[in-house]
Amino acid sequence: MKKRIKEKAMNNFELKNPTKIIFGKDTIKKLSTEIPEKAKVLLLYGGGSIKKNGIYEQVKTALSNVEVVEFGGIPANPEYAILMDALQIIKEQDITFLLAVGGGSVIDGTKFLSSAALYKGDTPWDILTSNTPTKKGMPFGTVLTLPATGSEMNSGAVITRKETKEKLAMGGVGLFPVFSILDPLVIQSIPKRQLVNGITDAFTHVLEQYMTYPSGAYLQDRFAESILQTLIQIAPKVIEDPTNYTEASNFMWCCTMALNGLIQKGVPTDWAVHAIGHELTALYGIDHARTLAIIAPSHYTYNFEAKKEKLAQYAERVWNITEGTIEEKAHIAIEKTETFFNELGIDTKLSKYTNNYKGTAELISKRFTERGWLGLGEHKNLAPNDVEKIVTMAY
Ligand code: NZQ
Ligand code: ZN
Repeated sequence: MKKRIKEKAMNNFELKNPTKIIFGKDTIKKLSTEIPEKAKVLLLYGGGSIKKNGIYEQVKTALSNVEVVEFGGIPANPEYAILMDALQIIKEQDITFLLAVGGGSVIDGTKFLSSAALYKGDTPWDILTSNTPTKKGMPFGTVLTLPATGSEMNSGAVITRKETKEKLAMGGVGLFPVFSILDPLVIQSIPKRQLVNGITDAFTHVLEQYMTYPSGAYLQDRFAESILQTLIQIAPKVIEDPTNYTEASNFMWCCTMALNGLIQKGVPTDWAVHAIGHELTALYGIDHARTLAIIAPSHYTYNFEAKKEKLAQYAERVWNITEGTIEEKAHIAIEKTETFFNELGIDTKLSKYTNNYKGTAELISKRFTERGWLGLGEHKNLAPNDVEKIVTMAY
């Protein structure tokens, strides 16, 4: 009898992304035609960078014919308690439209508010703990000031609660922005620390949706590889000169494309690096992107057997490693990735960020057990004790 070889096949999928992207130089002024007529807008922003780099003036000018209330002070890793103050304003002032002007934190905070504004329960934190998808939220738009997360064109958000040292995700079809304005000129004022964070976050988003096992999705693989190649190409130039428009525009579009849903369609995805990374931010306040750079090399090393074919493909196609066996190429792929992060100035060991790292692995493993997160990764087979080993390797 002929041995039947299991065919690698693309998974079935559905794709709908309703966010209108307005991309390019001097596009912030287009806000004036995107905000619904007669809307009462809550303009949400972060710690004040938009007041120093001219973005705030551009937004205010574009909104001169609309009724606007403002809420500033959303911190990096948007904090639940602060967002609850904004929710009160939404309710007291009969706000009908939200406008996020910021990076992933302000946009994610706005997504939480979009959901919480229409939430029927008593405690909006339950939206995160119960993992209930938001089917309908208050409509919102965004003006992106920091390319990194892709939040401007996806329906996910991550919210932090200092009180309990938690950082949890939420999402749903009701949380796509109505529009997002992407003007690459905003990059000029971004500090180097945030530029390298953005590159690292976007790079890891692609890896989470690619570094699994071969699944016969040739086009998705090449989409993913082309984003990685472009990020590698632009990284040193964007850091050296964020006023270079060609580099800035490619950087910005890469970050959006890395997590707007397209490259994950029809393929297995991992997301264990993010699940573990979020704990490091919640526990130690480490920048999101840096937590990914800490976990990714250990994760790929620990799961080497399961991922070696894709690691080798990535080595060949992204890093031009043409010599050696699958295993040799796969090992080089992990080294290249870690070196890439290090060359951006990002440390890839937890002990470089905190002296209190001992016990972290056990703590994260315990938290995952308590939450019932018993099987992470593309095979849903990474148990809390595997997570413990991965985190220990990252010390
Ligand atoms: O607060 P302000 O004053 O605006 O300053 C910010 C902040 O200090 C500053 N910044 C932003 N744009 C600037 C600027 N400084 C000068 N010029 C500009 N044009 O940068 C700092 C960091 O901003 P933040 O929004 O926190 O960064 P990022 O965009 O990296 O967002 C990180 C958050 O997004 C979540 C992360 O967990 C984290 O909470 N993520 C959201 C995702 C999503 N919704 O899809 C996916 C990601 O994996 C990620 O988890
Ligand atoms: Zn991320």
